[in-house]
Amino acid sequence: MESVFLFIHLISAVGLGFYLLLPFVSGQANNLPVLRSMNRIGTYLLIVQFLTGGYLVSKYDLSVAWMVVSIVLLLAIFALTGIMGKKMKEGNTSSVQTLSAVNAVLLVVTVYIMSHPDVI
Ligand code: HEM
Repeated sequence: MESVFLFIHLISAVGLGFYLLLPFVSGQANNLPVLRSMNRIGTYLLIVQFLTGGYLVSKYDLSVAWMVVSIVLLLAIFALTGIMGKKMKEGNTSSVQTLSAVNAVLLVVTVYIMSHPDVI
């Protein structure tokens, strides 16, 4: 069961790779409608990460600090995707570019923490 959850968690993380590309494609106003649809799917993937990650933490021996940092990062990314969705709707490319750059950095930090469970 654990390997099934980890597999779903990993496939969902691959889908979230969209957020690493977003800063490079969000400068053009024409792109915003399709990016907005993809951003909505991204929020669903974050919920998948929360649910599968919640199951996985119960199976691994991780520190409380690791869990807290992971959840805070996930919530920060979730909040940014929500704000970006609003900015995409308004057609505000410069805000989307700035927010998506911050979001990409947070995603990289999250994957680093995920792949180094004993870092904290
Ligand atoms: C943006 C959100 C997230 C992304 C992109 C993400 C990504 C990943 C990746 C790539 C791995 C595999 C690491 C490896 O095996 O080397 C992993 C493992 C794991 N994730 Fe997440 N994750 C996210 C959120 C969460 C959350 C919120 C939790 C729970 C608090 C969580 C719990 C875990 C656990 C327990 C593992 C397995 C232990 C480990 O290898 O560190 N994840 N995650």
